[in-house]
Amino acid sequence: PTSAARAREVHVPTVVAHRGASAYAPENTLAAIDKAAQLGFSWVENDVQRTRDGELVVLHDESLQRTTNVEDVFPGRAPWKVGDFTAAEIARLDAGSWFSPAYAGARVPTLRQYMRRVEQNHEKLLLEIKSPELYPGIERQTLSLLGNEGWLDRRHLGQLIVQSFSADSVRTVHELRPGVITGYLGTPTVAQLHGFARFTDMVNPSYGSLSPEYVATVHAFEGPHGRPLGLFAWTVDDAATARRVAGYGSDGIISNKPDVVRAALDGN
Ligand code: G3P
Ligand code: CA
Repeated sequence: PTSAARAREVHVPTVVAHRGASAYAPENTLAAIDKAAQLGFSWVENDVQRTRDGELVVLHDESLQRTTNVEDVFPGRAPWKVGDFTAAEIARLDAGSWFSPAYAGARVPTLRQYMRRVEQNHEKLLLEIKSPELYPGIERQTLSLLGNEGWLDRRHLGQLIVQSFSADSVRTVHELRPGVITGYLGTPTVAQLHGFARFTDMVNPSYGSLSPEYVATVHAFEGPHGRPLGLFAWTVDDAATARRVAGYGSDGIISNKPDVVRAALDGN
């Protein structure tokens, strides 16, 4: 069974560190996934985009502005879109100082660097293909890199989920590599679920759109691998919401503060 299905059997949601343990270290950096590992979490979430010269990098926003010093290093290149910069240019940026001086010098990782650190840390990855409409072919490219890094091998079965807000992107991933576990980000209608269940193993909604009935509806569908659709809710950072969403039957909770969620679910 998937981790989601396993989690459901014992009614303990999987806790996923959102953009790494991003309340405590700068999001989507190697420091953030190190922090997740230090806190004892094996699942991390990230966001993948592409540079002007075709390198896959890990960053949430379409612009480098919020989470790097790009304005200082490259003034005059507003709006500082990831896709307008080369990998070498992005590698020069400080992606840690905006968060805290303690993280000065943290970099925007390439996906290759990121996957190697995930492997070293014995972590598991919920990989989001972000804004795929901006990056034609990013699904094939991402799968190719994952394959080269060994992440499509049997030893990594159950340790990787590829998700997107774009149903087309999720479908493309499933068609290219049917063995990969996939997730659709959003709250599809029942009518949509009939179609989506052909290519997605999971439906991962914002917690604000959830109800116990909706979780049960999602679970009643069977995904492309013959198992009930899984459901991870995002982004839950407080104890009361974590308990509520777990009570709805969510298989996972995605959090910037995974330690807070775990403590809440342990009853602490
Ligand atoms: O993994 C769920 C969550 O990351 C989706 O929203 O905007 O944080 O990428 P966002
Ligand atoms: Ca994300």
